Amino acid sequence: MSRIFPDGFYWGASTASHQVEGNTHNQWSVWEQSPTRLAFLEREGLIATHGRENFISGRSTDHYHRFADDFALARSLGHNANRFSIEWSRIEPERGVFVEHEIQHYRDVVAACRKSNLEPFVTLWHWTVPRWFEDRGGWKHKHAAQDFARFAERMARELPDVKFWITFNEPEIYTLNSFFLGVWPPQEKSRLAVLTVIHALIAAHKCAYSAIKKLRPHAQIGIAKNNVDFEAADNKLYNKFLKLIHDWGWNNYFLDRIRAHQDFIGINHYFHNRIDGGLGKNKNELVSDLGWELHPESLYNVVTDVAQRYRKPIYITENGLADAADRHRAQFLIDSLSHLHRAIQNGADVRGYLHWSLLDNFEWDKGYWPRFGLVAVNYKTLERTPRASAFVYKKICETNSL
Ligand code: FCB
Repeated sequence: MSRIFPDGFYWGASTASHQVEGNTHNQWSVWEQSPTRLAFLEREGLIATHGRENFISGRSTDHYHRFADDFALARSLGHNANRFSIEWSRIEPERGVFVEHEIQHYRDVVAACRKSNLEPFVTLWHWTVPRWFEDRGGWKHKHAAQDFARFAERMARELPDVKFWITFNEPEIYTLNSFFLGVWPPQEKSRLAVLTVIHALIAAHKCAYSAIKKLRPHAQIGIAKNNVDFEAADNKLYNKFLKLIHDWGWNNYFLDRIRAHQDFIGINHYFHNRIDGGLGKNKNELVSDLGWELHPESLYNVVTDVAQRYRKPIYITENGLADAADRHRAQFLIDSLSHLHRAIQNGADVRGYLHWSLLDNFEWDKGYWPRFGLVAVNYKTLERTPRASAFVYKKICETNSL
């Protein structure tokens, strides 16, 4: 029996500016080339394994120039939506200086997206910021929220054709890696910084939400939230307690605080975390090229939790796997989507699914070797080749069913 998704369901894929555009100049591109970063890669033997160019975003997939063809390709693969991000450092390279031809660039991007009959989902911050913003203290600076909101408002003014705005991508993943583990720029390790930055992002989201809403009352605004399926392995009090604490701190803390400032919830989902006397006791029967467990039923759990707790429309704004050989992607899609369908049957108001990613891209500190694309990219020729799984997904998108 075929399982049908709701009418008007959005099907597509996601990208982010720094990962696909090429030639961005932001805090991250500076960090990639910094002596401490290069020394670290050298010391860990990562340059010997992957080559130096793996870790430099550089030309990337050149989506900056090829967006129209990429959107047409997405359309030919059955998509009717696309999530991409605006690179703030292009728009406002100096504080208060807005670059008209870069604004025009994103007008062209939105127009091309619409021309290919894709509904744009536009992210305003996918972790990268202009250098002036970072140099001044990043999210910890007292004017961070106002400056971000001014940029957000400007974009909403310049791009009236955009209905879906995503202010922030995964505030917790960024804060964890940049301020707790200290592996991403600015490489701090401080609990105080974690709290300060999370609260700065909450404040900035609210400011941006209000600014966009005032200008465009019909815009739909949310964030893309990384939610994890924390699972207590049994009924032991300690395991259940750990689950509770992590649901509270990781899954709900941010969303609870912006409850009154979001029209929908975007869910990015990658991780299952089995708790058995400690975190991360996963069985890992199947893993991706990055060693992340493939556990599709987790999508049901995170979606159901969010649906019951917040009672808002949900869009899956990311879900995917690094799988260069395309060995698991098709089955992963089918399994994940059948669990998503089950959540919908169970009452969750899910209105779209955007796979990560449309194209192979620059996977942050890991660089280019992980291959997340429905479409493979040859980084020498920039040729795009849809993987077999992209056609399995195409059929699902086109029939709106499994
Ligand atoms: C998410 C990020 C996205 C991509 C995927 C694999 O956490 O939002 O940019 O790197 O992971």
